[in-house]
This record gives sequence, structure tokens and C-alpha cells, in this order.
Amino acid sequence: MTLARQHPIQVVAHRGASEEAPEHTLAAYRKAIEDGADALECDVRLTADGHLVCVHDRRINRTSNGRGAVSALELADLAALDFGSWKNRDEAPDWEHGPGDPEDTSVLTLERLLELVADAGRRVELAIETKHPTRWAGQVEERLLVLLKRFGLDAPEAPTQSPVRVMSFSARSLHRVRAASPNLPTVYLLQFISPRLRDGRLPAGVRIAGPSMRIVRSHPGYIERLKRAGHQVHVWTVNEPEDVDLCVELGVDAIITNRPRAVLRQLGR
Ligand code: G3P
Ligand code: CA
Repeated sequence: MTLARQHPIQVVAHRGASEEAPEHTLAAYRKAIEDGADALECDVRLTADGHLVCVHDRRINRTSNGRGAVSALELADLAALDFGSWKNRDEAPDWEHGPGDPEDTSVLTLERLLELVADAGRRVELAIETKHPTRWAGQVEERLLVLLKRFGLDAPEAPTQSPVRVMSFSARSLHRVRAASPNLPTVYLLQFISPRLRDGRLPAGVRIAGPSMRIVRSHPGYIERLKRAGHQVHVWTVNEPEDVDLCVELGVDAIITNRPRAVLRQLGR
């Protein structure tokens, strides 16, 4: 059964065009914008000296030539590292980065990503995921809102007009964001269906659900319940063509994918 969607399905580049370029780098986000992605997804963490950087893992070992936890390192420590070489270029033939452009593969601050989006020349939305928000007791959200304010993005007139949304697996993190900025849309990410939300409800004030593709495949009826409850549904991480088809069939509102170009093509865009 297909349920009505309010807008065309949105294609969101997960960690940038991260199949082709190293995730969370300027190279990956530039590529996603070139590919025509409607929005960019990024994870944010606080450094020891209070900067928000786009890094998924708690530690930098997998995606850089350094070691250690983001929270224990200062921005200057991270800026000295290479966040691109780990990506196997044989598996990513479309990705080219010149040695003359080290910024493309250095650590990416959220501030730099906001600048990239501001200079994109077209509307590109941003889905920002707060990582490890409990450890920092509000500092991640506080810093995020300060940065958004600098770009005039912290207080949209209405949620539908906001090019930025904040996502989290933590309802408390989303609550903090809404308390400070009621019109900033929030997305409650779901890795499993909590028994108390089985009927399609979301935490108070949240209007967008972010279920995993695994939930969509195993419980399509749950997606229908979310839609019937009036929520938008943004699904992650949707890389396989048959999963894209299922998302379209179920009327989801956004597809979060490592392969924005392929998904756009499949959708005929
Ligand atoms: O977009 C949501 C998705 O990114 C959540 O999972 O682990 O990739 O941050 P993860
Ligand atoms: Ca994420």
C-alpha cells in the first residue's frame, strides 16, 4: 500500500557521497552537492576544546591516520591528520583528490560544512546528528545552536521552512534542541521499535521518525502507522535498489544513502 507523501522524496547524502569519497570530508560533501543530493547528513562530536567536528566514531582510528577519542583531542590535533587516505581508491574509482587540496581530506568542522552549504548556489538541506549527547550534558546542543545562529539558521519561522534538522537516537538531545529553538525540526532515530512507541507515536514534540532500513524491511506496517499518525519518515541507510523501491512504495519522505547519485538516477532525477 502506498501512502501519500507531502513532498517529493528527498535524497540525503549519508556522511556525504560516502560510497565514493571518504565519509565526512569536504570531498564527500562537495561530491554529494555536485551529484544533486537534496540534503547532507553528518554526525557531530565535540573536541576537547569545544569544537563541533563531523566524525562518526567515538575514536578517529578507523577514518584517519591518528588514534584516540575525538573528545580527548583538540581541533589542532585533528587538523594535523589525514581523514582521506584510509579510503581504498581502487574501490572508489570516481573519487579524485589532488595532493594540492589537503582541505578536502582534513577533519571537517561543522562550521566549514555550513559554509559549504551556504555557498552551494542552491538549497541544500542539512540533517545533523548529535553523537554522544549524554556525555556532554547539553554542550553539544548548545554549541550547535550557537553555530546555527551565526548562519541565521537557529530560529526558522516555521519547521517546514528550516533547511536544517537535528537528528538523534537520544530523545533528551532532541528535547534540548526544541526547548531552545521550538521551530527547528527534530528527527528521532530508531534502531529498533520501542514497545511504548509501537503504535506510531514519537517522543513529545518530534514530528519525524528516522527508522533503520532493517526496521522498514521487517516491519513495513510500522512505517504505515507512523505515516498515519502524521509523521514524516526518513530512512537510513538505503543503498540497495530494492530497498529504494520499498521506501517509495511505503511513501517515506526521505532516503538517507551513501550513494546519492545512484538513488537519484533510480528515482528518475
Ligand atoms: O542518518 C542516521 C544514521 O546515520 C544513523 O546511524 O551510525 O550511521 O550514524 P549512523
Ligand atoms: Ca549518522
